[in-house]
Amino acid sequence: MKRIAVLMCSVALVAVLMAVLLWWWPINPPAQTNFPPGDVNRGAYLARMAGCIACHTDIKGNGKPLAGGAPIATQFGTFHPPNLTTDSRFGIGSWTLPQFATALRAGVSPSGKPYYPAFPYPFYGALSDQDVADLWAAFKTVAPVEQPSPQQDLSFPFNMRFGLKLWRTLFIKPSRSTESADKSTRWNRGAQIVNGPAHCGACHTPRNLLGARIETRKFEGASNLPGGGTSPAITAAALKKAGWKSSDITHALRYGLTPKGDSLGGSMGEVVSEGTRYLSDDDLNAIATYLLDEPTK
Ligand code: HEC
Ligand code: HEC
Repeated sequence: MKRIAVLMCSVALVAVLMAVLLWWWPINPPAQTNFPPGDVNRGAYLARMAGCIACHTDIKGNGKPLAGGAPIATQFGTFHPPNLTTDSRFGIGSWTLPQFATALRAGVSPSGKPYYPAFPYPFYGALSDQDVADLWAAFKTVAPVEQPSPQQDLSFPFNMRFGLKLWRTLFIKPSRSTESADKSTRWNRGAQIVNGPAHCGACHTPRNLLGARIETRKFEGASNLPGGGTSPAITAAALKKAGWKSSDITHALRYGLTPKGDSLGGSMGEVVSEGTRYLSDDDLNAIATYLLDEPTK
């Protein structure tokens, strides 16, 4: 009996020690300070393309722009996209550009805490210094809103934020360029948009039990989307099989209508109404060119 008690105490002690180590483990990347001057208009365009406005504004609840988004219900719990206005108490008004860049591209907060990947920072790792500076310039023009952000409301063990450090080492890969020298400039622009800011794979690539995307099944469609929805496959093969042409894709992303005239619903409706409908013809054509041609695992 005594032996078992000692064994159990040791196991508990090791578990506590590991938790403490994990909690303490610093993950801040080296802060970068040399950014080019930002362009407000380009930043506002990117904020549409990247869904920042869609997620961080409570659109249905008539919330103020970027003052905090509608709750996102997932199998791990409910996420609340925080207030990103220039309010210095409740928003990000007291942040610096390097802190913003680290949050966006590395998913680490100014105090060194890891963010949940419900914030699609794994895609934003592909943003250039210029992109980040442009976004920052645009965010600086947002009116402050004094509205506190609710705490994230997750079930155990996902509510232990420090556990994300393990998740990160398992699933976050350094963002690699999807640029391909033997493809056209238009194809490459499309790849950059789809795999970076527009984060199409966040909803169209299936995820494993820990919520990480299964990259070998890129764009094959997903179940268990926030709110319980599913998304169809958008691989080149699937789109072609269903008869999608380039002009059908650009039309769908501009007007939210499929070739059969059905309107795109669920979260895709919001992707279109808050994001892709604002994109230039060139960028929509680039997305279509890439989607109808990849496989690029
Ligand atoms: C799919 C929804 C979604 C999209 C799209 C999104 N975010 Fe977020 N964002 C979140 C959630 C959820 C959090 C909270 C994460 C956490 O607490 O771990 C968050 C957190 C943040 C934070 C940290 C704020 C703080 O107070 O610590 C910043 C900064 C941020 N997002 C900026 C952006 C920017 C810029 C974009 C667009 C390029 C963007 N987000 C797009 C959902 C989203
Ligand atoms: C927030 C989740 C989400 C994101 C991000 C997203 N989609 Fe979707 N998408 C969906 C859902 C859900 C549907 C199904 C809509 C329906 O059935 O009405 C869909 C449907 C589609 C369809 C129609 C396919 C078909 O066969 O009917 C296309 C094309 C598409 N998405 C392309 C894209 C592209 C390109 C991007 C990136 C710019 C993207 N989606 C980003 C959730 C998303």
